Amino acid sequence: MSSPAQRPPIAVIGAGYVGLVTAAGFAELGSEVWCVDIDAERIARLRAGEVPIHEPGLEPLLAKNAQRLHFSTQLADALEFARLLFVAVGTPPTHSGDADLTAVNEVVDAMPTSERHALVMKSTVPCGTGATIQRSFSERGKTAIAYVSCPEFLKEGVAVKDFFNPDRVVVGDSGTWAGAAVVELYAPLRAPIVRTDVASAEMIKLAANAFLATKISFINEIANVCEETGADVTEVARGVGLDERIGPKFLHAGIGFGGSCFGKDVSALKLLAANSGYHFQLLNAVIEVNELQKRRVITKLLKNLDDGLAGKRVALLGLAFKPNTDDMRGASSIVLAGRLLAEGADVRAYDPVAEAAARELMPNLSYCDSALDAANDADAVILVTEWPEFIELDWERMAGAMRGRLVIDGRNALDPGVVLAAGLSYEGIGRGRPAEASEPRRDAGAPASGAAS
Ligand code: UGA
Repeated sequence: MSSPAQRPPIAVIGAGYVGLVTAAGFAELGSEVWCVDIDAERIARLRAGEVPIHEPGLEPLLAKNAQRLHFSTQLADALEFARLLFVAVGTPPTHSGDADLTAVNEVVDAMPTSERHALVMKSTVPCGTGATIQRSFSERGKTAIAYVSCPEFLKEGVAVKDFFNPDRVVVGDSGTWAGAAVVELYAPLRAPIVRTDVASAEMIKLAANAFLATKISFINEIANVCEETGADVTEVARGVGLDERIGPKFLHAGIGFGGSCFGKDVSALKLLAANSGYHFQLLNAVIEVNELQKRRVITKLLKNLDDGLAGKRVALLGLAFKPNTDDMRGASSIVLAGRLLAEGADVRAYDPVAEAAARELMPNLSYCDSALDAANDADAVILVTEWPEFIELDWERMAGAMRGRLVIDGRNALDPGVVLAAGLSYEGIGRGRPAEASEPRRDAGAPASGAAS
């Protein structure tokens, strides 16, 4: 990486996980960064050195670069110092499933007429948004504001690492100074740069997320067929993933994908296609498979427990949509816990960091201080999120705490042999013959158990 001296100043609008990681990352590369958010409380906390989200590595990175990071609620502060304004505000789904561009439009509306500034769109927006924004600039006499689409590919939980090691950086523009400036800004990372037009950059983002979601729904369907045929999906994924054309990543079967991105972006792409008169059939199946997958654990419980779920005590290990985050958006645990409560089960839950966020969504769960506490007198334990501490659990002690024997591994992250050796019964997702699954493997190349990517 080049010396962090004399990098151009930038602004980041939106202090969510993408905005903060982007701000901290560019500050580390040497830029002065103005980070703007309309949430005054969030800005006050950031100014006080508090980090409002759980993202590994973010807090030390912000602290290390505190001198170069400036937090404000005023866009004007950023406009004074920075020419490139990275937009990293939320685009949640509307009730109709389209992306809600309210926050993006507020930024666009707040932009003054300026030849100095460029909007660099990091927020995920439907293909065509950049053209609409540029049209609205020109209608309001703000044509000189440059526009770049620079979609974000960070994964929550490893976002800081991803910032410094991108697979690629996509820069979509119409040949303005701003596109070249964004390329220059990313140059120290030595990542492949995809320089393209705005619409293609927007579509790359949606297509990438839709493809990854499709890969997960595909392996989940294979897992479901494995359950009928006696095959083990972890073995199947290993054998399939060694094909370089397919690759081992995102082939981990489980109880469905969650998060704020895949569901939203698959649905947004489907509707984008529909709005242009095209029926994107494949994506319907991706969404439907995922919804059903979240509910398969209920079927497994009913199959293994006598007399239904009413009055049964069920322990959920993990609530966040994936490990190393406190993000509950789209988490499979929400569907699972909701179904269990509806069936009359007593649900005890433990998550190492997501409890506060989960309590807001699911006040009726009994929240516990540890996995062992959650397992107390449980008829069944379900691994929902593969936090590292669950992979290393002492299953002898867990067995001693439980009143039942059933362990459902919703992420295929546990070693079935260890669970079985503790006198418990093990049921994974698509692992046909769990008792055999802990036999030594004859060859290498298995995707790391439980690792999502
Ligand atoms: C996803 C993309 O991976 C990022 O590239 C993108 O920038 C981001 O969305 C976004 O658009 O903002 P993220 O949602 O943070 O990132 O998390 P992922 O690691 O992709 O996992 C998403 C979900 O898929 C999780 O619930 C995870 O448990 C599940 N998953 C992942 C599987 O069930 N199986 C897998 O093999 C991989």
